Amino acid sequence: MRFESKLPDVGTTIFTVMSRRALEEGALNIGQGFPDYPIDPRLGESLVDAVAEGHNQYAPMEGVIALREQIALKLKTSYAIEFDPGTEITVTCGATEALYDSIQAVVGPGDEAVIFDPAYDAYEPAVRLAGGRCVRIPLTPPAFRFDWDRVRHGLSDRTRLIIVNSPQNPSCTVAERADLDALAALIRDRPITVLADEVYENVLYDGRRHASVLAHAELRPRSFAVFSFGKTLHATGWRVGYCVAPPELTRELRKVHQFNTFSIAAPLQHAIARYLAQYPDSWTGLSAFFEAKRNLLAGLLRGSGFEPVPAAGTYFLLVDYGALSQSSDIEFADRLIREAKIATIPLSPFYATAPKMTLLRLCIAKRDETLKTAAQRLLAFATRR
Ligand SMILES: Cc1ncc(COP(=O)(O)O)c(C=O)c1O
Repeated sequence: MRFESKLPDVGTTIFTVMSRRALEEGALNIGQGFPDYPIDPRLGESLVDAVAEGHNQYAPMEGVIALREQIALKLKTSYAIEFDPGTEITVTCGATEALYDSIQAVVGPGDEAVIFDPAYDAYEPAVRLAGGRCVRIPLTPPAFRFDWDRVRHGLSDRTRLIIVNSPQNPSCTVAERADLDALAALIRDRPITVLADEVYENVLYDGRRHASVLAHAELRPRSFAVFSFGKTLHATGWRVGYCVAPPELTRELRKVHQFNTFSIAAPLQHAIARYLAQYPDSWTGLSAFFEAKRNLLAGLLRGSGFEPVPAAGTYFLLVDYGALSQSSDIEFADRLIREAKIATIPLSPFYATAPKMTLLRLCIAKRDETLKTAAQRLLAFATRR
């Protein structure tokens, strides 16, 4: 049978590749973004209770209402806006499904979607599966700022979607309110929807506040905003996320969602709903929690040859190894796995066409002991050379 791949150039993600290499070489994995510490045991107990109480059959397609109500409460606490759980909030299989559904809902054959490099890797394949094409605009290094003039030149009459990720993985930068104003002005008279990937909304450092599209009066009516309990509750394996969007966009998103995953694991939804009801402050200390980890790792690495790049948010930290080597980031990351027994994530796979750079992404969602061991190994590698 002749079979033609729809995504011939898409291989295994860099996260999977590096995690597999870490296993092969017995390396400490501080590349892929997942915590190595346990979830709050009370969240685990909520799950046991939910199963015992019989929440084991299909959940409603749009999500368990108790959870959607808790999400509405969280949004109200964060952004002082009331959202209707009935028509504006949908529970999805992680943020990944919310991204996919949003893209399928608005991108059609021949359409264009703007994304910003270095870009999280889930966007482009979804756009292509919808028959569309990504226009990739680089964030301007070294500070990875938006260049809205450049975005303007990237728009065409086929542009249907702009995907903005803030706090941004992997650059660890955040969009300012002025960026959202510029975005709003740019698309004011165009048929363009915004997809805001805000999974790190609760992880901003040094007193910064998250500029959400939901809190932007002009963007909110034309935006999907995507969130993840994987990040907020340190439970990436639960795969529970959600999408917040005005009713007309939510209606379209749900048409995709209902034939994609239909609904999300019922006991997990009940467990999270109950946990948030009992511990509504469970997520409010996330910035301080991760800021301490960023400071710990950055402090240990400063001056070592793995120079920390200023990070405004997310649970990652970029380091620049330019003082140690000019080899490509993929080569250097593999060398670190073999020689330092540390797995990191190189930055170039986040680009369509990567500029020459010497940056690696480290995940700080790790126990302090893990971060200290990682730093020791990197320091030992740097001094051995
Ligand atoms: C920017 C960004 N968006 C989306 C996701 C996916 O989130 P989830 O694990 O909830 O699907 C991640 C996960 O790392 C991410 O970093």
